[in-house]
Amino acid sequence: MIPFFNKKKKNNKESHIHIESVPKHIAIIMDGNGRWAKQRKMPRIKGHYEGMQTVKTITRHASDIGIKYLTLYAFSTENWSRPKDEVNYLMKLPGDFLTTFLPELIEKNVKVETIGFIDQLPEHTRKAVLEAIEKTKDNTGLTLVFALNYGGRKEIVSAVQLIAKRYKDNELELSEITEDSFAEYLFTKEMPDPELLIRTSGEERLSNFLIWQSSYSEFVFVDTLWPDFGTAELDKCIETYHSRHRRFGGL
Ligand code: FPP
Repeated sequence: MIPFFNKKKKNNKESHIHIESVPKHIAIIMDGNGRWAKQRKMPRIKGHYEGMQTVKTITRHASDIGIKYLTLYAFSTENWSRPKDEVNYLMKLPGDFLTTFLPELIEKNVKVETIGFIDQLPEHTRKAVLEAIEKTKDNTGLTLVFALNYGGRKEIVSAVQLIAKRYKDNELELSEITEDSFAEYLFTKEMPDPELLIRTSGEERLSNFLIWQSSYSEFVFVDTLWPDFGTAELDKCIETYHSRHRRFGGL
């Protein structure tokens, strides 16, 4: 066992969630790193550093309670407009995270994947994530998905372009374009839609995250800033999800 999970200040009590009843796919908008740092008169990047520690805690817990997919919004297509130093730091985080955490991810049978336009990431960021993807590709436990340079609208437009090209080349009939076949052109083609989507920090919007895939997701918004989000709160979000009656538009 490689001990590097950061347990300080996180409310890591033993979970009472039943493994049989957890959602298959949880997606999280990890918001509030900047405010967490500001409240402590620290630079914003310190908030992102602490946010990375929370990613470790939540990944370990998700794996322990039997979640099959955990998708984390780490960098959006809009985040490039942040100050250069902050963007550079955010681009360094996946490498830092994987340097310290990949051995435990491997030990826990976690598979790493990404969604987003990763070709446009700096070389060092892309290299770190591609190496993790390669090293974990045969793992069968939790799939940990980082949304990196991800934007839902761009994802949909890119799917439309691919479909239009195939139609133009006579490779596709109009009637073959269905909801199911369309989803095959999205980054998430191998994944189930998230049943539960969580956003931290009190903001209540999707911010271009999984806009196609979250059509029927339950949304849970919590006030906690991401660096303070812990395992007990994830369990509470799952309980909230269970308390809702999912009808998919029926009765
Ligand atoms: C939003 O908070 C957060 C981000 C844009 C970055 C999220 C990144 C992490 C949590 C670390 C990622 C870790 C890995 C391993 C890739 P914000 O900065 O918008 O916070 P604010 O709204 O309070 O300013």
